[in-house]
Amino acid sequence: MTAPHRPIRSYVLRQGRVSNAQRRAHDTLLPRYGVPYAQAPLDFDRLFGRRAQRVLEIGSGMGETTVHIAASHPETDFLAIEVHTPGVGSLLKQIEERGLKLGHGVWDVIFCLR
Ligand SMILES: C[S@@+](CC[C@H](N)C(=O)[O-])C[C@H]1O[C@@H](n2cnc3c(N)ncnc32)[C@H](O)[C@@H]1O
Repeated sequence: MTAPHRPIRSYVLRQGRVSNAQRRAHDTLLPRYGVPYAQAPLDFDRLFGRRAQRVLEIGSGMGETTVHIAASHPETDFLAIEVHTPGVGSLLKQIEERGLKLGHGVWDVIFCLR
């Protein structure tokens, strides 16, 4: 008898503390800025409402670098991917505060590169 295959996962979630502000941003802003995973290719023109150069960031961490680069390059569209809840909350909070147009995916990168 063979063991069943485990699904591939390319990350291990760090157990970090989620602050109240990060939790609130995660829960309230993800529906607004999050890009839900779909099996079909994303329509980026529709997602961002324009055709522009695009950058995919795999692992945006707490989002400081992402926000800095995105704010410095308004001509470019950014899609940031992160799986760590405090990081997702932190980036979403900064997107909201700075009025950035930035899609945020909470996917394991394996799925979005397939
Ligand atoms: C070193 S930190 C990123 C720092 C950030 N890019 C910066 O320059 O400040 C790496 C991040 O990648 C995320 N990560 C690791 N594997 C991932 C995966 N398979 N999919 C999405 N994010 C992942 C981790 O949760 C972590 O926050």
